Amino acid sequence: MSSGAFHKIQKPLLLSIFVLGCFVTAFLMYYKPSTSWFNDLVKFSDSANPNHVFDTKKNYTNFTIVLVWLLPFGSTQKMDICSSVFNIEGCFITADRRFYNQSDGVVFHHRDIHGDLSNMPKLQRPPLQRWIWMNMESPSNSRKLPKINNLFNLTLSYRQDSDIPVPSGLLKETETLEDFVPPSKNKLVCWIVSNWNPNYKRVKYYQELQKHINIDAYGSAFGKYISNKDYNPTISSCKFYLSFENSAHKDYITEKLYNPLSLGTVPVALGTSRQNYENFVPGDAFIHVDDFKSPKELAEYLLLLDKNQELYLSYFKWRKHFVVKKPHFWVEHTCKACKYIRQHKEYRAINNLNEWYWG
Ligand SMILES: *[C@@H]1O[C@H](CO)[C@@H](O)[C@H](O)[C@H]1NC(C)=O
Ligand SMILES: *[C@@H]1O[C@H](CO)[C@@H](O)[C@H](O)[C@H]1NC(C)=O
Ligand SMILES: *[C@@H]1O[C@H](CO)[C@@H](O)[C@H](O)[C@H]1NC(C)=O
Ligand SMILES: *[C@@H]1O[C@H](CO)[C@@H](O)[C@H](O)[C@H]1NC(C)=O
Repeated sequence: MSSGAFHKIQKPLLLSIFVLGCFVTAFLMYYKPSTSWFNDLVKFSDSANPNHVFDTKKNYTNFTIVLVWLLPFGSTQKMDICSSVFNIEGCFITADRRFYNQSDGVVFHHRDIHGDLSNMPKLQRPPLQRWIWMNMESPSNSRKLPKINNLFNLTLSYRQDSDIPVPSGLLKETETLEDFVPPSKNKLVCWIVSNWNPNYKRVKYYQELQKHINIDAYGSAFGKYISNKDYNPTISSCKFYLSFENSAHKDYITEKLYNPLSLGTVPVALGTSRQNYENFVPGDAFIHVDDFKSPKELAEYLLLLDKNQELYLSYFKWRKHFVVKKPHFWVEHTCKACKYIRQHKEYRAINNLNEWYWG
């Protein structure tokens, strides 16, 4: 049979399967049976991505199943991309709790765990199942939950001493590139802040700094809301961006640094020490507030760089050899957790998570 004839037969068949599928979906969404597993199925299935639930034609014999028990911040994601996007093979990521008994790993996002653990699994834990604690927020911004000790097997966080460390970005080596030409700039210093807390060091620093240099500040605290669409263009239109973290903790370096780095804007870091930043990015890729005795001296230096283009451009030297990679929250994290449990079969238990994280 020629391929043309094949198409003649297949097309109407596929069309009728599709139409039938639409009717079935519409029917099922209208008549919601009361069984909870069914609600999960409807909630997590996605017509564009049936693997959200499972692919009945696939052989999962040698697959590692990782169940996302609590959808981070309630956000659904395409979950069948470990292999296609991150080159991590043999992983089946699901949010369908019917897979609990079969799951090799179960991921729990700290922010979504109830303090009394009432939304944690009630079923007996299979003997080899790993529970993975995931948290990308700093200890200052995470609720301490006394009951989370002696529960988890692996930690996944921005911290380098986690079992599965996932920083908010990294500089990946690339073939030598042309000299970087920053995007055109019409602002000097910018800051976008969503969480304005007058007690934060960053707010006090900003208040002092803006006495000495003009800062374009955005966010509800300034009555200047920035939409998602305007976020990147705004950052790239500034010579400098205040990459001010909400708190200072070892390795706690977020997209506040990696966004301007990737957009061609020089970050001014406030958070952990310069030395710690230099574990992740070259020392001449950013300015650190601790390099100056006072906000006034920092302002003077930024004004000097504004007049000296050669000196300003020296902050982009790293771009000859590196590109910024930001992880895909949260599926990449779960794919990495899966990869870890495929490679590590040893026993492990986290008995004092509270001490490790908040101690
Ligand atoms: C699934 O794959 C495994 C090997 O990974 C094989 O032993 C098994 O027979 C396969 N099952 C089916 C139904 O094809
Ligand atoms: C199963 O996966 C492991 C990696 O976890 C691999 O080493 C092994 O070859 C696979 N076995 C089969 C039958 O595909
Ligand atoms: C899961 O395993 C437990 C025993 O550990 C059993 O009581 C329960 O019925 C199982 N659930 C499913 C959906 O298979
Ligand atoms: C996982 O941690 C729990 C709680 O500490 C422990 O009971 C369990 O044996 C550990 N399992 C594995 C496979 O490491």
